[in-house]
Amino acid sequence: MKIAVIGTGYVGLVSGTCFSEFGHEVICVDKDVKKIENLKKGIVPIFEPGLDTMVVRNAEAGRLDFTTDLAEAMDGAAAVFIAVGTPSRRGDGHADLSYVMAAVDEIAALIKSYTVVVTKSTVPVGTGREIKARLSAKLSTDMFDVASNPEFLREGAAIEDFMRPDRVVCGVENERAQGVLKELYRPLFLNETPVIFTSRETAEVVKYAANAFLATKISFINEMADLCERVGADVQEVAKGIGLDKRIGSKFLHAGPGYGGSCFPKDTRALVRSADDAGVDLKIVRAVVDVNEERKRAMAAKVIGGCGGSVAGKKIAVLGLTFKPNTDDMRESPSLDILPALQKAGAEIHAFDPKGMEEAKHLLPGVHFANDPYETMIGADALVIVTEWNQFRALDLGRVKDLMKSPVMIDLRNIYGRADLASHGFHYTGIGR
Ligand code: UDX
Repeated sequence: MKIAVIGTGYVGLVSGTCFSEFGHEVICVDKDVKKIENLKKGIVPIFEPGLDTMVVRNAEAGRLDFTTDLAEAMDGAAAVFIAVGTPSRRGDGHADLSYVMAAVDEIAALIKSYTVVVTKSTVPVGTGREIKARLSAKLSTDMFDVASNPEFLREGAAIEDFMRPDRVVCGVENERAQGVLKELYRPLFLNETPVIFTSRETAEVVKYAANAFLATKISFINEMADLCERVGADVQEVAKGIGLDKRIGSKFLHAGPGYGGSCFPKDTRALVRSADDAGVDLKIVRAVVDVNEERKRAMAAKVIGGCGGSVAGKKIAVLGLTFKPNTDDMRESPSLDILPALQKAGAEIHAFDPKGMEEAKHLLPGVHFANDPYETMIGADALVIVTEWNQFRALDLGRVKDLMKSPVMIDLRNIYGRADLASHGFHYTGIGR
């Protein structure tokens, strides 16, 4: 089956490439000429484990191609996926649908035979209906259907998540569109992945509800971490103690500096806004957003506390800048709140991140960037772990201590244990312990 995918950002590129891996013929479209030229040469613009080799393999097999010409991509395509960005609109937190609607207008002019128009981008409930109305103004309704097929990909594990998902959700209005999506996802039926067909509105809500629920788990355990710190309990053991209850589940209960990334912050805000518009006050989700915003700010205070109440004139080593490991993505990373707050309090910051520094250089003025973890620590008054990259889990603590001016560690991801660090002579501050 031939499909077109509009937008070669994170979602579009991973989805398009994985559909070609399923054996479909995929053409990915983007307006960015340079990006398309690079992709044609096998140069992938983002860091995602396994993606570059999969792009090259499928391109060489003739199943995956890239173009700036939507007409070429849509020629003979059974479905066109919209995977353009839906950033937070400045000021009001609503999802900005201008890229989506611009794509819809271009699609409208190019549909020559029956095509399923599928939203892959995260769009507020009701967007599918709006797209249908927009297309109907220009096309006869038997020429197209509009479906919602949200993605649930984690950065750093996106290929695995696409090829072996917990579930696939398809929001469709009729059997005809359902047939096209069934054919596209047929390889997953073989390994018995649940593929849920439901209404378009339901699919749109599933996506936001899933992200809001996961964000809720994180804000919840972060609040428990604050409580644990006050009463002398250990949040990691609390997480284990509750997580073994199958109704709760053990995943997504790591206390930390607050969630970041391209999805949770934006989607929770957009959900609150679109529910507001529908006359529903989502009090829980609103609280989740507030707790997370406050948390990112509170982390700077925690570092200052761990440094004995002041960081003025101190040199702070920071390990990890991205919002989580195995990505180069800096979007809404807690580091973007924590580091400037420390600088404002008078600290000099030396940081290292395995993949995020290129991007971080534009976002964190005044921060010194090191070539490896140990370089940040030379003469440092404190070491702060912001992101739990694997390479930070097994630091040579003797060497760290020798390099630092004073052996102080503030571990915002709990990758070390207090007893272990104390035995190496460190003053250790973790989260919720
Ligand atoms: C998320 C969803 O997992 C995915 O299904 C959706 O489609 C897009 O958003 P992603 O943003 O790649 O994926 O990251 P994820 O691994 O979910 O982590 C998000 C943030 O939550 C990170 O900042 C992470 O550090 C934080 N987090 C996660 C915690 O603080 N504690 C946890 O227990 C889990």
